[in-house]
Amino acid sequence: MSRKSIGAYDLRERVAAYDADMELMHPNRPKMVQIALEVLPFDRDAALSALDLGVGTGYFTTRFLETFPQSKVCAVDGAEGMVELARARLGKRAASVDFRIGDFRELPKLLAGAEGFDVIYSSYALHHLTHEEKRAVAAEAAALLRPGGWFMNADIVAAEAPAVERRIQDIRVHGIIERARGLDPRFADHAATRRFLDEMEANEGDQPLTLQEDLTLLRNAGLRDVAVFWLEYREAVTGGRA
Ligand SMILES: C[S@@+](CC[C@H](N)C(=O)[O-])C[C@H]1O[C@@H](n2cnc3c(N)ncnc32)[C@H](O)[C@@H]1O
Repeated sequence: MSRKSIGAYDLRERVAAYDADMELMHPNRPKMVQIALEVLPFDRDAALSALDLGVGTGYFTTRFLETFPQSKVCAVDGAEGMVELARARLGKRAASVDFRIGDFRELPKLLAGAEGFDVIYSSYALHHLTHEEKRAVAAEAAALLRPGGWFMNADIVAAEAPAVERRIQDIRVHGIIERARGLDPRFADHAATRRFLDEMEANEGDQPLTLQEDLTLLRNAGLRDVAVFWLEYREAVTGGRA
C-alpha cells in the first residue's frame, strides 16, 4: 500500500470516527439535515449555487449534493483537518465543491470573487459565535442570497428557563449513556459524561442562543418568513428566505 492510499484509508477512518461521535452526541443530525433539504423549494435537477458555513467533515454538503447533484457548493471552514475529511467523504463529489479555509466571521474577505447564492446552510457551527458575531454572519449571509434564496440552519439552542435547560441536559446525558452502551469510557456514567460535555463545550466556546433570540436575529438580519421547521429539546432547524 502506498503512503497516499494509507492516508486515504486513514481519512475514511477519521470520518467514520467523527460520525460515530456525532451519532452518540447528535443522533438527530440526519433528520435535521433531511428537514433542511426538504424545505428548499427547488427542483432536484436545478443547478444551484450554495454556501456551507462550517462544512466540517462534509456531512451536510454531501447530502446537499446527493439531493441537488447539478449544484455547486462553496464550503467554508476554519479547520484544515476537517476540510481534508470532507474531501475524503465527498469523493468524486468534491469536484463540485470550492473549499475556502478561513473564519466565517470574515465572509466578505473569504468569499472574494464569489457571486450570490441560492442556498446558504449550516449545521452545528453557528452556536460557536457570540450573539453579535452570529447577527453579523446572518446579515452577511442574507445579503449574499439571490432573490428567492434560502438560509437554513440546523443547530443547538438553549432553553429560556434554567429548570427546563437542566431537565433537557439530563435527558441529553441519559441518551448519550444509553447509546454508548457501556462501550465508551467517556460516557460510562452521568458524572463522566457531564464532565466530558462541559470540557468539550468550554474548549469549543459553545454559546447557543434561545430559539426566540435565534429567530429574532434571523429576522433582524433581513430574512423573510423566518420559521422553526423542526425542534427537539435543544436542537432546531430554523431558516428564512431572501
Ligand atoms: C461541530 S462541527 C460541525 C460540522 C458539520 N457542519 C457537521 O454538521 O458535522 C463545527 C465546524 O465549524 C467550524 N467552525 C467553527 N467556528 C468557525 C468559524 N468561526 N469559522 C470557520 N469555521 C468554523 C469548525 O472548524 C468545525 O469544522
